[in-house]
Amino acid sequence: MAGTEAIGDGDVGEEAPANEGFANGYTFFRSFRHEPECFVPTFPPLQNDLILRTARGEATERTPVWMMRQAGRYLPEYQEVRSEHAFFDVVQTPELAAEVTLQPIDRFPLDAAIIFSDILVIPQALGLEVEMVSGKGPHFPNPVETPGDLERLVDPDVDDTLGHVFDALTLTRQELEGRVPLIGFSGAPWTLMAYSIEGGGSKNYKQARAWLYRHPEAAKTFLQRMTDVIVEYLVGQVDAGAQLLQVFDSWAGLLGPKTFRTFALPYLEQIVDGVKAEHPDVPMIVFAKDAPYALESLAETAYDVISLDWTMDPQAARLLVGEKAVLQGNLDPCALYAAPDDIRREVQHMLAGFGSQKHIANLGHGMHPDHDPDHARVFVEAVREQSEQMRTVS
Ligand code: CP3
Repeated sequence: MAGTEAIGDGDVGEEAPANEGFANGYTFFRSFRHEPECFVPTFPPLQNDLILRTARGEATERTPVWMMRQAGRYLPEYQEVRSEHAFFDVVQTPELAAEVTLQPIDRFPLDAAIIFSDILVIPQALGLEVEMVSGKGPHFPNPVETPGDLERLVDPDVDDTLGHVFDALTLTRQELEGRVPLIGFSGAPWTLMAYSIEGGGSKNYKQARAWLYRHPEAAKTFLQRMTDVIVEYLVGQVDAGAQLLQVFDSWAGLLGPKTFRTFALPYLEQIVDGVKAEHPDVPMIVFAKDAPYALESLAETAYDVISLDWTMDPQAARLLVGEKAVLQGNLDPCALYAAPDDIRREVQHMLAGFGSQKHIANLGHGMHPDHDPDHARVFVEAVREQSEQMRTVS
């Protein structure tokens, strides 16, 4: 392989490129993004492709580890950035998004970076206003209340509306200098629809769930509109430098087996099939939170990795999923409030449950703002050390 690495290509390169195009490559990409045939960005060679090999189902020397919401409020350096910039300003400014993405990578020996953004950029691209209210979370001043409100949605030019995420990915990939792969992501249609109808977080999302029974056809129209944008968005993320993709269906647990089959699964499938039609080699992770009933059907899809929340027993999940998919997860984030030795013991229990292969270690959901960064370090280091030991013993 030449000194630079093509996008989405996980091979470990041998020599670093004379990377004078660092800043230039980024500026170049911004100006040529509309004509991708004219310019394909190149990146420093990857030094750690452990998570990519694991995601593809290959046997590896240790279990890779990253943490959902690893860039965020529990890090004082993130708080410092946020004291000067509003949340969506950080998301929309590639230099800031790249800086925040790298913060946990500079601190902990993680095996992947995840681009700093939010799942709610998709409803925003469709024309819905979303505010981030500090201490409360997302708020839609004008939610989608009736099927007639769908007429307010626009058909976005993904490059124009979400190009800032593509730029952030390209810049971050440069600044990572090949240390670890970069994960891109999107929310899943059902979860995004739930937020858009409910107007923000909610106890039981009953308005969104009521739509599935009162307006099933309009619900499908809404889900399809989002799916089409998400496919283009994720393909664009890979073009811009993402090497692995995760789809967050954080509110899958509000559905039941029947509504999941009708309103979530077909769209999750369209997403993986649509992205893989363009980028067959990019591994894809699906996270359907609180939805053990969904495991068997997710295992039938083309997703390479199924992410589990902490309510699922790894061995029971493996029996349901079979041997094909890789599993990700699933330490209860609240275990990080325990003393370091207890965290190490919980990690040992988790690793024993998943076994030494086909597992990406993670939390069962995201970091909390009041987590101690030192405890996150204990988690990451314990996975590295213990998973290596597991292989020498077995
Ligand atoms: O994981 C990472 O480090 C990358 C960044 C990331 C954020 N949000 C940053 C963020 C990712 C992957 C997300 C995904 C996301 N956003 C999900 C799916 C994952 C999950 O938690 O289930 C969801 C449901 C959202 C929607 C969202 N964004 C909520 C509910 C909130 C507020 C809740 C809270 O934690 O306060 C956000 C805001 C948000 N997104 C923050 C961060 C760091 C905190 C905002 C702040 O800085 O004030």
